[in-house]
Amino acid sequence: MKFFADTAEIAEIRELAETGLLDGVTTNPSLVHKSGRDFIDVLREISKICPGPISAEVVALDYNEMMREAEVLRKVAKNIAVKVPLTTDGLKACKALTGDGTMVNVTLCFSAAQALLAAKAGASFISPFVGRLDDTGSDGMQLIADIRMIYDNYDFATQILVASVRHPIHVVEAAKIGADVITAPPKIIHQLFKHPLTDAGLASFLKDWQASGQKIA
Ligand code: E4P
Repeated sequence: MKFFADTAEIAEIRELAETGLLDGVTTNPSLVHKSGRDFIDVLREISKICPGPISAEVVALDYNEMMREAEVLRKVAKNIAVKVPLTTDGLKACKALTGDGTMVNVTLCFSAAQALLAAKAGASFISPFVGRLDDTGSDGMQLIADIRMIYDNYDFATQILVASVRHPIHVVEAAKIGADVITAPPKIIHQLFKHPLTDAGLASFLKDWQASGQKIA
């Protein structure tokens, strides 16, 4: 399973990249706004830190303008994945861009039917938002299982990128289902490393080692 960081904060991306476990980055207009940085500058910097796919979202709603924005975004770096919304125009743009060799991440997916359409449009990634579905009383993870089954039935190459991840259990459940990628806020990725028994075990091993008076030389 690939791990993407869902952020536009350079320091957070750099810290995760240093673990060697970061496979890509997703941004969206809200995350760029939160960073307070210029969109293109941020993308350029991220693409230098992380060689994996960097999602950059168009903000236009109509096909022609989306294609114009996509042209600007994909020129920023080789590893840009143009992010388009799951609308008719978005999927039309997806089809045209992937046909041209551009990576495309179709975002704001909330149903299996939408995911099926995105795969037919040749999307490189489909982004179902599990947390936002859970918030409405639906079962976000059930959507991931449904998409997995549909994509496997037809051997679609579109990668399932689980988005709107809110806690480590989302990551584990997505892995059990066989999702290809999760994108999560850095805080959640850091939580994955943690277990209180690891901390307690380490403290007791170190105490006993000190008492032994030995050194690894
Ligand atoms: C995905 O690409 C989105 O940026 C993101 O996962 C949305 O998550 P949110 O529901 O926490 O805003």
